[in-house]
Amino acid sequence: MAVTSCHVATTKQLSGAYPFLCESGLTERGTIIGQDLLGGPFCFDPFELYDQGVISNPNMVVMGQLGKGKSSLIKTYLWRQGVFGRRCWVIDPKGEYGELAAHSGVQPISLYPGGHVRLNPLDDPYAGGGDKRDIVTSRRVGLLAAIISVSLQRVLLPGEITSIEMAVRDVESRHKQPVIPHVVEALLSPSYASATMLRTTVTELAEDGRQVALELRRLVTGDMFGMFDAPTTDNISLDGPLVVLDLSAIYGSNALGILMTCAMAWLQGITDRLEMTTAGNSQIILVVDEAWAVLKNPAAARWLQSSWKLARAKGVSNIAVVHRASDLLAVGSSGAEQIELAKGLLSDSETRVIYTQPPGEVALTSELMGLTPVEEEIIRKLGRGIALWKVGQRSFLVRHIISAIEQQLVHTDQRMGVRERQNV
Ligand SMILES: Nc1ncnc2c1ncn2[C@@H]1O[C@H](COP(=O)(O)OP(=O)(O)OP(=O)(O)O)[C@@H](O)[C@H]1O
Ligand SMILES: [Mg+2]
Repeated sequence: MAVTSCHVATTKQLSGAYPFLCESGLTERGTIIGQDLLGGPFCFDPFELYDQGVISNPNMVVMGQLGKGKSSLIKTYLWRQGVFGRRCWVIDPKGEYGELAAHSGVQPISLYPGGHVRLNPLDDPYAGGGDKRDIVTSRRVGLLAAIISVSLQRVLLPGEITSIEMAVRDVESRHKQPVIPHVVEALLSPSYASATMLRTTVTELAEDGRQVALELRRLVTGDMFGMFDAPTTDNISLDGPLVVLDLSAIYGSNALGILMTCAMAWLQGITDRLEMTTAGNSQIILVVDEAWAVLKNPAAARWLQSSWKLARAKGVSNIAVVHRASDLLAVGSSGAEQIELAKGLLSDSETRVIYTQPPGEVALTSELMGLTPVEEEIIRKLGRGIALWKVGQRSFLVRHIISAIEQQLVHTDQRMGVRERQNV
């Protein structure tokens, strides 16, 4: 009798066989990013995924070495999000989003010392709205404390923080629209009422706030004057699909982190206002490119983290673009505090896009991002435009695809062009 040799297995066993394994994809709703290297197209939208319960916050960190395609991903992503009516705001320290702005029919807002545009980071989004007054005061104090701490490169003393708070309260009682020069003045010449409240003298209170005042003066008369020291310039249009704050004029300055923090504070004030007037319907994507300049300082990093926590409630998806995992470790804080700060920020950013990392960064990236050993190997050798996407609990290997039309939005290698051509 002939016996046919064959393998018999249940469907459960068969499903474990490689040919039948296929990544089910993240979602088919949202903007297309490119190709899932283990499956079909890869789409992403933080608001949709939040609705589906895949992620519990809409924030994102994009991390990768120079020239691997981080900004290109962001530019095409924002361009594609325009189709869904999302509003996109960008802090652009290198001045490279001009092409995207032109395609979106808007002009970047260029900030430079003594320029024509002023943004007041102390703007009150609620325009004096009664029950929000304390929130506005504490945000102003928090922002000023963060930027002064960055500028002084040290933690502020309790007396200094109190003097900032008293100065802000003094200014608020005297001016409908406080600006930073008012605060400097109130720090240098505190009121009798403030001193009495603190059971001290005016001279002692002025002494407590003197260093703080002199540092804050940099934004008024020093090297950073004429950007954040007056009421916000009229006629700044925020109605378009895209707002780009171009900070390239001060890119090389050691004040970059401070100015980026001021710009973020101003934009966040606007999101609060929109939330009030549109009942939270205005979904916004707020990108901080080159975010390492902010994150390297513990005070600024804490300030950024606290504002990211509000993202979900306000319908804002924040995106920080950094080079490497160690950019998330604030300089000057202790090792444990650095890790705690970085993990805090990452726990508020459930989408992490990781381009290739140098060998010295892999262990830290793995610790902070919770990578598997296989993922650790993968991020050592990814080509340009390919990244590991960790979205909530899931991981994907994605090749970002740029269409022919989008090429003009992303090309940052122009200046390298001559050498590239010579090398051919
Ligand atoms: N997915 C991609 N496919 C092909 N080329 C790409 C891709 N992404 C980026 N590039 C090219 O690589 C160059 C550098 O990209 P990009 O400016 O986005 O890098 P980056 O990671 O933001 O660099 P940096 O850290 O210096 O800001 C661009 O000129 C772009 O044309
Ligand atoms: Mg870039």
